[in-house]
Amino acid sequence: MSRIVDALTGGSDKCVIPGHGADSALPEGRDLAFTPEVERETAPLYERVRDIVPAVEWPLFAPFVYAINRLKRERDAVILAHNYMTPEIFACVGDIRGDSLQLAREAARTEARVIVQAGVHFMAETAKILCPDKLVLIPDERAGCSLASSITGRDVRLMREAHPGVPVVTYVNSSADVKAESDVCCTSSNAVQVTEWAAAEWGADRVIVIPDEYLARNVAAQTPLRIITWRGRCEVHERFTADDVAGLRQAYPGAVVLAHPECPPEVVAASDYAGSTAALARWVGERAPARVVLLTECSMSDNVAAESPASQFIRPCNLCPHMKRITLENLYDALRLLRHEVVVPEDVAARARVAIDRMLSLPRATRPADFATGRDPVDVTVMSAA
Ligand code: 13P
Ligand code: SF4
Repeated sequence: MSRIVDALTGGSDKCVIPGHGADSALPEGRDLAFTPEVERETAPLYERVRDIVPAVEWPLFAPFVYAINRLKRERDAVILAHNYMTPEIFACVGDIRGDSLQLAREAARTEARVIVQAGVHFMAETAKILCPDKLVLIPDERAGCSLASSITGRDVRLMREAHPGVPVVTYVNSSADVKAESDVCCTSSNAVQVTEWAAAEWGADRVIVIPDEYLARNVAAQTPLRIITWRGRCEVHERFTADDVAGLRQAYPGAVVLAHPECPPEVVAASDYAGSTAALARWVGERAPARVVLLTECSMSDNVAAESPASQFIRPCNLCPHMKRITLENLYDALRLLRHEVVVPEDVAARARVAIDRMLSLPRATRPADFATGRDPVDVTVMSAA
């Protein structure tokens, strides 16, 4: 048991809610019931998702929503919920909601003692790096990411040897080891801004932007800088094609097509707008298009649709199997059993923190940056594991 878990449980292996006496071990998830009290207390939360979650399913979700929200207060915990969480998680138990940049910023500011990541492992690591004294939990340790697993710290060192003096901008979708070998982090909300800042700061005409080849190519289309990248791909976004966009436009005339910049550059070029998940949500919220397609993970459309009743969503989406590992059941267990603790060795965390802090201390934009669409593809140098 770690020092932080120990402090929260008073050293007991048995999970007891602080302040509820030594015998009040919490019920297993299967023992939670849809009582009249649960129904009454969760009714306002159901209003947030009623257009997305059928009424017949709510009695299955509500007991977990009720128990999780109580347990959060008792544990002094917050849930960071990424935009790709399913609506009953995102809208009903998430305290801090948003894209990777928003979650990192808010994690750094929270005063709660426990942070539970409703998202994937690299996000939980980022929270731990920014909040070393807090207990950071991930409900399922298998919630990985194809981008984060595409590259190692050693790969970054080899890239540096091949390109001495060139700054390394690393997408937050990466392990702590990789961040520790980097100069500065970025997210899809600020990738162009950070890349241009790094070039100016290092006095370079080239920048290493890793590990997402497509994000790097999309950055390259927005800046005159030369970009060196890595052959990493998001397994969700790499599957969209320019033919998909053409087919959608033919089948749904007038629909606006919005793409995430992890999509291939020809998909971004063929779309009407591109940006981070926060940028896509904002665009729909501000413009209220009659018909819209979000080329990104499936739950994103559900979460934006829950707040955009005027728009019809066409959903040719792809599921992220890693994000979908997070459920109400394992969020409940994470809070009940204080598991699974995310640990980052302090020497790695200290170096990774420098790269994350550099990103967070850049001037804060008033809105997430967008990627101009319709651009011609630009040549970049792509490296891969030997
Ligand atoms: P953003 O929410 O930062 O746009 O990232 C998308 C993503 O794929 C996270 O894994
Ligand atoms: Fe990784 Fe793509 Fe899943 Fe995001 S959507 S966690 S980038 S695999």
